[in-house]
Amino acid sequence: MNRSRPLRALVTLGPTHEPVDEVRFIGNRSSGRMGVAIAGALSAQGCRVRVLAGPCQPAGLDSLPDVLRFRTAEELRHLLGLWWADFDLLVMAAAVADWRPRAPRAGKARREDGPISIELEPVPEILGTLISRPDQFVVGFALEPADALVASARSKLTRKRADCIVANPLATMDSDTVDGVLLWPDACESPPGGPCSKDRFAAWLVARVLPAAAARCGIR
Ligand code: CTP
Repeated sequence: MNRSRPLRALVTLGPTHEPVDEVRFIGNRSSGRMGVAIAGALSAQGCRVRVLAGPCQPAGLDSLPDVLRFRTAEELRHLLGLWWADFDLLVMAAAVADWRPRAPRAGKARREDGPISIELEPVPEILGTLISRPDQFVVGFALEPADALVASARSKLTRKRADCIVANPLATMDSDTVDGVLLWPDACESPPGGPCSKDRFAAWLVARVLPAAAARCGIR
């Protein structure tokens, strides 16, 4: 099928906040900047981009035209269930929590109540259980210790059922630069010139991924 229309891309970004009570949460240090850079690079290539953004306020997010917000992993799962079918490409850059409080308290826990324990339960997998059509294309992300970067990300590529996966060392979080690699089932590549700014990495990533995503959904 040869369709000539803008490719529709869904980009998730930022952390999740998992409630402990009505005022506190467990979160992570994801800034959302990589996702904003990718959304910008996709728009610059003529894609129609919707962003699903967690609780973060990276520079540039406000100027993106189509942003929906989530707070928890469950809210992100709900938004993906609502919208993924309307898109061709998913870039899953959100840093989803691995654990969440099993029973968030109503109201506000008081210090005078003494020490408290918070029981954590695993957050169910979102990307690896997402239902995609054969004409849709999925880019996953993986945050890994530098010494196990490629091996660990390669196993995630299969587990997450992604078409390719961006693997970043832990130091990427909160940093201005990226030292990531892009893993395909049969290849591994990185931007020429080594570590670079998030904007530059995003432009390189989009140039690598867009042709494959466009071919998958039959867009010229
Ligand atoms: N992800 C997801 N659902 C989760 C956790 C992560 O969909 N519950 C997605 C992330 O958005 C990312 C990819 O899976 O695209 C890898 O996230 P990462 O945190 O590196 O992997 P985990 O599966 O959480 O494994 P671990 O933290 O144990 O390495």
